[in-house]
Amino acid sequence: MRDGEQAAGGALTLEEKIEVGRQLQKLGVTVIEAGFPSTSPGDFEAVQFMSREFRDVEIAALSGFKEEQLSRTWEALQDAETPLLHTVISTSDIHIDQQLHMTRAELVELTDHTVRFARNLAPHVEFSTMDATRSDRDFVVEVLATAIRAGATIVNIPDTVGYSMPDEFGELVSYCMDNVPGIDDVVVSVHCHDDLGHAAANSLTGVMRGVTQVECTVNGVGERAGNASLEEIVMALRTRQDFYEADTTINAPELLRTSRMVSAHMGMVVPPNKAVVGGNAFAHSSGLHQDGMLKERTTYEIMRPEDVGQGGSKIVLGKTSGRHAVRNHLKEMGAEIEDDRVFEDIFQSFKRIADRKKEITDRDIEAILEDRAHRAFHQTYELDLLQVTCGTDGIPTATVRLKTDDGKMLEDAALGDGPVHAVYQAINRIVNVPNVLTEFTVSSVTEGIDALGGVTIKIESRGRAFTGHGSDTDIIVASAQAYMNALNRLLDVLGGGGPAEAETVSV
Ligand code: KIV
Ligand code: ZN
Repeated sequence: MRDGEQAAGGALTLEEKIEVGRQLQKLGVTVIEAGFPSTSPGDFEAVQFMSREFRDVEIAALSGFKEEQLSRTWEALQDAETPLLHTVISTSDIHIDQQLHMTRAELVELTDHTVRFARNLAPHVEFSTMDATRSDRDFVVEVLATAIRAGATIVNIPDTVGYSMPDEFGELVSYCMDNVPGIDDVVVSVHCHDDLGHAAANSLTGVMRGVTQVECTVNGVGERAGNASLEEIVMALRTRQDFYEADTTINAPELLRTSRMVSAHMGMVVPPNKAVVGGNAFAHSSGLHQDGMLKERTTYEIMRPEDVGQGGSKIVLGKTSGRHAVRNHLKEMGAEIEDDRVFEDIFQSFKRIADRKKEITDRDIEAILEDRAHRAFHQTYELDLLQVTCGTDGIPTATVRLKTDDGKMLEDAALGDGPVHAVYQAINRIVNVPNVLTEFTVSSVTEGIDALGGVTIKIESRGRAFTGHGSDTDIIVASAQAYMNALNRLLDVLGGGGPAEAETVSV
């Protein structure tokens, strides 16, 4: 979670982190690195919450090497059932000279002091040699040996900048395994970035060379090009056990649900061709492949879609379904909703879509749940009415009516270069908060002519980015919902705004 959230524009709210954390537990991960507490009060709160509330999973938190950073990190972490204090120091000459301005000897001394200080606080300490793959490997060995002597219980070999090739990375891991005194008594971990697209391959090579911990992220999100994808590593190990002779504790049927949750909360769309969790990962298009599939599934499938949470039941619900059936169905999908108000909100969204679609699939229901997840913060405005005129002739025009959190109805209209632009202009006239739209993605959530369209956007205001998501059978409505979603998130965090030109109406 910590490195995943380092993805540009991917920051999560506390509620989102907790929800993802709970899902990671269902997924069966053994360690959740919940944050970097000394860098932000939000991370401190998230680490402290998960440490106090989550059981049967190790909670890790990253810390810089300074004593006050380690103490602050420990303060957030200390109530965890199994706390893991993770600290990091770079070992490459580039980092030592250009960033840390130290000598190698000073760095070895710093490692010894840092790990001893951390071990006086915490029973489990992980030590990472940042930029290990661009470091002199004998120096990596020396620093890892120092960390182990000082009490580290896990040592981590990161490919921080995604520079290594799989064979090369494997050699570095083996070199450390063969030459670091005491390495057999600690857990050895790898942590690979994807700058050259080798993060999963490098991590798996680490497993082949004997490491037992892989640090990875759902959907491969993370700093720059991201981290190794959890779902790719898990399914490679499971599908090719004959090759790797290793497996994980991961409950793979939860992979897709986890991927969708992370994608929705971070506003990062999963490409259709993404391995394991992409929308096309089990779609067979060419005649030759379809012919093979109809004769025998294994001709073109190496994994079963249901084993990773893809596929499953389809036409189960329709517009005549009542609350009982919907509640039951949600339960079968693993989404038990206890709060009646939350359920009612979901049920009303279901009814709206069921009125316009013949069949409601699990994917439609998941889209409704994702939309709700996006609204897990204060709703200053709600879209009450939207009317758009557009076509080949004339100027696109939109009228919108928004309901405020204190029940007022505000109405305005605007012209635009296109229908979505007109809608956004009309909303701007009411909400009146300066922002710039930096990303706008439309995707089809379900199949068919009555498909649900999903719109994911990003807006920026006062140096902060906010994502928004909406889905509807009408793509203009989905675009309006996505914008309202992002604006509400912005207002929740930054405040401000308020009607400037809008007319208050009675309805
Ligand atoms: O990429 C990296 O080196 C890290 C360390 C903190 C492990 O994220
Ligand atoms: Zn990293």
